Formats: sequence, C-alpha cells, structure tokens
Amino acid sequence: MNALTPARLRLGVNIDHVATIRNARGGAHPDPVRAAQIVAAVGGDGITAHLREDRRHIRDEDLMRIQAATNLPLNLEMAATDEMLDIALRHKPHAACIVPERREERTTEGGLDAAGQHNRLAPIVQRLTDAGIRVSLFIAPEVRQLDAAIRLGAPVVEFHTGEYAHAEGDAREVELRRLTDMVALAARNGIEPHAGHGLTYDNVQPVAAIPQIAELNIGHYLIGEAVFVGLENAVRRMRELMDAARG
Ligand code: PXP
Repeated sequence: MNALTPARLRLGVNIDHVATIRNARGGAHPDPVRAAQIVAAVGGDGITAHLREDRRHIRDEDLMRIQAATNLPLNLEMAATDEMLDIALRHKPHAACIVPERREERTTEGGLDAAGQHNRLAPIVQRLTDAGIRVSLFIAPEVRQLDAAIRLGAPVVEFHTGEYAHAEGDAREVELRRLTDMVALAARNGIEPHAGHGLTYDNVQPVAAIPQIAELNIGHYLIGEAVFVGLENAVRRMRELMDAARG
C-alpha cells in the first residue's frame, strides 16, 4: 500500500464546544478533559482544540490538562500570531493546524490565505517544524492555496469542507469533486491531506470515501449530538460511518 493511502481514516475530535458550554456558566463543568478521556476510551485517534485569541472556549490551562489526561495526539489549532507560536512551542502538541482567525466570526469561516501570507507564515511553519511539531495548514480546496502550502513546506494540509457541507444538490457534487481533486493533488505532492468543518452523520461518508484523506477533524456536530446520545455513542456512530465509507 502507498504510504499516502492510509488503511484507516483517523478521527480527530474537536472538543472546543465542551469548553463553550463550560464557559457559559464560568465554572468547571463540563470539563473538556473528560471529553478527551471519553474520546480516547472509544477509539478516537486524536484531540483537536482551538485556542482562540479571545479564549472563548479552550483556555491556556486546558491544553496541559488535555495533554496530561490522555495519550492521544493533540492537534492544536492556532492563528498565525507570535502569541500562539510561543504557546505552541511551550506545549509542544503533536500537531499545530494554522487557521485564519477573526475575532468577530462565529467559527473558522473559510480557509487560511496561505498564498497571500507567505512571508508571515514561513517563519512560523519553520519554528514549529524545528520544534518537532507537525504543521498543518487549514486551507480551502484551491490550487493556489495548495501551491502555497507546498512552497511553505507544510507536511499536512487540512481542507476546509465548509463549502461542501453547506452546499446542496448539484452544488454539493461540484464541491465534492473539487475536494476530491485537491486531495489527490496534495497526495501526489507528498502532502498528507486531512479534512474538516461542518461534517455530520449525513455528509461525512462521501468525504471519508476519498481514499487519500488520512484524517477528519469533527467537532460541533459531535458535541451537539452528544447532548442527545452521549459522547461515546456519537463518536462511535461517526466512526462506524467513516469505516463503512472506507470499507
Ligand atoms: N478543523 C478545523 C481546522 C477547524 O477550525 C474546525 C472548526 O473549529 C474543525 C475542523 C471542526 O469543524 P466542526 O466543528 O464544524 O466540525
């Protein structure tokens, strides 16, 4: 098997929104660390957490607690700022996914402009890489952005699936084709493709079926679904759907 055609698609669970609920009351419950432990117990492959500039969900102290509580690799989503770089270098997560960030947005709306920000990103990618942190760039499935990721030497790109997730009917097929082509192009260039954003039980399978994708990162839907069925069951169901699509 080609090294870029992984047999088992990894599931990284984004636990930010457990912290969103915790922070709504200013206390300690529900604790994102407990969520991370549950994800580990039911066979999740990684924990994803976004330390936003405004600390609206995950907080600095959560990172160390998550790292201490499970053996799962931590994928730290971070803006390309000096502050976040320092934090990443201190915590040394397994991976750092560089995302665009605007304070006023509700979630990460759109991909990183890797093409337009080469000079800003290059030293950050280098310093993270030098520290042994696997760098991923969260980009739209566009040739221009992938070219920029290649120039920056990123070993991983995470393709933003928001356009795909929000499209309907024929438009969704168009988005899926675009994603499929870009995933293949990334893999041909030696970049490990990941995908995430807006994935649900209903739309995950066509993405999971793209053979070169190594990892999906899924958050909001799983945490929302956990309210009704529990996090264990939500992660298990997502895992089953992913495996069936890969099967
Ligand atoms: N991947 C990245 C880089 C993200 O920024 C997000 C959203 O925070 C996700 C995956 C997960 O998206 P969602 O919460 O819509 O599943």
